[in-house]
Amino acid sequence: MLNELVIAQVTDMHIGPSNTKFRGLEVCQPFLDVLQALAEKHLDLLVLSGDLAAVEGDPEIYAWIKQALATFPYPYVVMAGNHDHVGNLAKVFELPDDDLSQGMLYFSRTVKERRLLFLDSSSYRVAKQQLEWLSTQLAESDEPVLLFIHHPPLKCGCRFMDDRYALQNIDEVWQVLVPFPQISHIFCGHYHTEKTVIKNGKSVHLTPSTVFQIDTESPDFAIEHTKPGWRIISFIESGVQTYVEYL
Ligand SMILES: [Fe+2]
Repeated sequence: MLNELVIAQVTDMHIGPSNTKFRGLEVCQPFLDVLQALAEKHLDLLVLSGDLAAVEGDPEIYAWIKQALATFPYPYVVMAGNHDHVGNLAKVFELPDDDLSQGMLYFSRTVKERRLLFLDSSSYRVAKQQLEWLSTQLAESDEPVLLFIHHPPLKCGCRFMDDRYALQNIDEVWQVLVPFPQISHIFCGHYHTEKTVIKNGKSVHLTPSTVFQIDTESPDFAIEHTKPGWRIISFIESGVQTYVEYL
C-alpha cells in the first residue's frame, strides 16, 4: 500500500530585484509568509511552478528566493514560467544537467513511489521535443502520474488571461495527453486564480499567486483580491485530493 504523498504548489511569486514591488504590490513578504505557513505543515515536496521572477529572471532574484528557502524544512523543485530565465534558474539553483535540454527545464521526479512530471512552457508553448519526451514517459507505465505545467493547456473561462496570455499550442498538447488515462490531474499557475476545469476527463487545476488574483470576468486586467494563495495536493491510494488555501 502506498503512503500518502503531500505536495504544496506555490506559484507566480513575481519577485523583483532589490525588493521592488510588482504592479504596486509587495511581493517578498507574502512569499515569506506563505513559506512560514507551509513550514508548519507536513509536506513531502514544495513545487514552485513558475514566474518566480517579476519580469526578467535576474540571478539576484533567484539567489534571494534560494536564500528564503534555505531553512524551509522540505525539499522543493523549481519550474520555469514566462517571466523566468531558465539559464539563470539552472545556475543559481544548481539544477541537475539531466533536467535541462536545449535550454528548456523539463524533468521527472519520483517521490514516495509516485511519478511527477514537470514541463517548461516559458516560451508560451510546450515544445515538440518536450511532447515527445512526455509521450515516452507516459508509455513507460500505467501508474497514475501528476503533471505540472506553468501555463494551463486550455482556455479556462478567464477573460483577460484567455484572450491575451493563453498557451499557444493547446491542441498539440492534448494530442499527447488524451491517450493516457494515467494522467487525470494537471497542475498549473500563470492565470492568478483558483479554478478547476475538466477536459477529456482530466482535471486542470489553476493555483492562485502569492501576490494577487485576477478577476476572471473582466476583459481588462483587474485584481480580484490580494490574498496570497497556494494549493495542497494529497495523493492517496484511492486517488488525488486537492484544494486551495489562502493566508
Ligand atoms: Fe506566467
